[in-house]
Amino acid sequence: MFSFPPNFLWGAATAAHQVEGQNCNNDWWDWEQVPGHIKNGDSARVACDWWSGRFREDFDRAQLLGHNAHRLSVEWSRIEPTEGEWNDAAIARYREMLTALRERNIEPFVTLVHYTQPRWFMESGAVPGKDGWLNERSPEILERYATRVVEALGDLCHFWLTLNEPNLYMVLNYAWKNRPPGAGSITQAMRVGRNMMLAHYRVYAAIHRVQPDAQVSLAHQWRWIAPANPRSPLDRLAAWQSNYLANEMFLRALTEGKMPFPLGRGEKIGDDKMPLDYLALNYYFENRVTFDLARASSLFARQLPSTWLGGTPYESFDEAGNLNPAALFELLERFARLRLPIYITESGTFDVGTDNQAPYLVSHLRALHRALQKGADVRGYFWWTLVDNFEWDQGYWLRFGLYHLDVETQTRTKRPVADTYAQIIRANGIPNEFMEQFGN
Ligand code: FCB
Repeated sequence: MFSFPPNFLWGAATAAHQVEGQNCNNDWWDWEQVPGHIKNGDSARVACDWWSGRFREDFDRAQLLGHNAHRLSVEWSRIEPTEGEWNDAAIARYREMLTALRERNIEPFVTLVHYTQPRWFMESGAVPGKDGWLNERSPEILERYATRVVEALGDLCHFWLTLNEPNLYMVLNYAWKNRPPGAGSITQAMRVGRNMMLAHYRVYAAIHRVQPDAQVSLAHQWRWIAPANPRSPLDRLAAWQSNYLANEMFLRALTEGKMPFPLGRGEKIGDDKMPLDYLALNYYFENRVTFDLARASSLFARQLPSTWLGGTPYESFDEAGNLNPAALFELLERFARLRLPIYITESGTFDVGTDNQAPYLVSHLRALHRALQKGADVRGYFWWTLVDNFEWDQGYWLRFGLYHLDVETQTRTKRPVADTYAQIIRANGIPNEFMEQFGN
């Protein structure tokens, strides 16, 4: 058996817009209404129906599976439906959710902004139409919202995440433009990334003013980027450059107190305190990139389609990468040097109909265990996700849940991975038979 430390946190991760339903005051809602934006014309109109109260039954499921932590997000557009005005009913609802978790002995990790912004925020500034994170005032606007949330929920929550994946948000929404606002350029994407980093610094300080002992971080999806052909200097260049822009630049902004090029010009940000109390890493797959002159919008790096999905109905889904648990190990080993507690705030894979999720879980937890043995201070793991949910532009087609969801009837059906995970949690370790069955 590969044992984990006592008090290790085990759970799943969710995000407000993906599970709540009836969330119609934000940029995603507007985006979903346009035909062609979401696969199969899906929308988050109902999603997992949490806003009507189904969060309770799903938290019961998490409890039954032995989860002792859960990552969720609060929806800014519900809490601040118009600029500077607070909706007490929405706050009360989130208090119910956090209380429901606490009653089940599940530690909440709360993300303040997980990919969605209020409609007014997207239309708030000088650029006509949609400026949102391009607005110079955005860090200050976020600070006000965060302060209100932490004042209202701080007694129920100790672990906060300011923003989810600024690195993906700025690229997908402003450079590749397949998510709202669906307009922008590389230069604008950089401004978005820069404002999000400035916002993080301000919010980090603001949360600590309200709740001095809070644990605060930012969820970064670490894209593990490898050259398609390691012998090709151009592929290596493409991989280096993608890795810098997707990962290293953000890590520098967060750990060196300076705004790195091209987010800035090395100017100082914040005071001298590193604005992270723990590291929050989302990790999924390895991505292989090749040099491609036709890909100016990705600075000449093109991501290769996944190789492990061939022959499944998912083979055209080329944003997923290849499985590489060893990359998770290397990542954790590297981050151990920062001497901060580490939580894997998202990890998982979608169901391709071949019971592929349990092998993913076991092999990645085994990699995590190896990192623990080498001294990495990993304290928790969150599977993405508890119940199938609204997977953004992929609608309900991509299904990552421990439970399968029938959106029409709202019926949940447990997948095999849920039991595998529950047994690991119960043992607080990976039983040997799982290594024989799924491991490597
Ligand atoms: C992450 C997002 C999350 C979910 C997973 C699959 O990038 O944070 O909301 O969509 O991918």
